[in-house]
Amino acid sequence: MPDLPNPETPAEASALRLMDCPNWVYLLREFDALYRYGSAGGSPAIRSHRKRVRDRLSAVLAANPAMVDRPRETKPVVAHFARALDLGERAAMQGMVRALREVKDDLTWEYGYEKVPKALAQKYAYCEVLGPRGPVQGTTLTLGFVLFAPNTTYPQHSHHDIEESYTSVSGAWSENNAAVFAPGSLILNTSGHEHRITTGDRDPCLLAYAWAGPAERLATPDMKLTAPRRARGAGV
Ligand SMILES: [Fe+2]
Repeated sequence: MPDLPNPETPAEASALRLMDCPNWVYLLREFDALYRYGSAGGSPAIRSHRKRVRDRLSAVLAANPAMVDRPRETKPVVAHFARALDLGERAAMQGMVRALREVKDDLTWEYGYEKVPKALAQKYAYCEVLGPRGPVQGTTLTLGFVLFAPNTTYPQHSHHDIEESYTSVSGAWSENNAAVFAPGSLILNTSGHEHRITTGDRDPCLLAYAWAGPAERLATPDMKLTAPRRARGAGV
């Protein structure tokens, strides 16, 4: 039975605000640097996505929202997290990895599925850093990380009314069998674009992701899985 988040353990508003939590601020600044100084590779669509992400992130930082004290959750794939961080610290996204390491005991790892396929339950989970449910509250932007065990296939899916970018932090992966992405690479999935992820054989893969979309959609993403089981709630 998958270890699904317990709905009877609600997140609670904290007395702390974002600026009272430097480790979360520094992690968000790593996202800001990523979307501010990273290249768009000449793509107007990626350039405008980068701007949307950093503008929305800047607004959150300026608002200094109350932190949400979400219950800590772990998943089996988190057994690979230390290796992913170790590899990531040797590669292009080392600043992001170091900032992530400082909040690693405060993460809520989840599946985003009511019924996660059995094989995937051992090999995948994601955690949100910023979004409608916190820990840093934002309405039109979600930022987080997704972790895959070695040799994982994440089923084909798409996102309605959501622009999604993945940036490689650690490990190697492919989307739709089209390319191999190394740490620092970014890929944009526009609304409705079907995508399927596979990861390398020997090491875990850690991706940072951003979702930009309307508030009502980020609150209930209604992800469309092309696989037999439908997604419910969030997911990457
Ligand atoms: Fe996705």
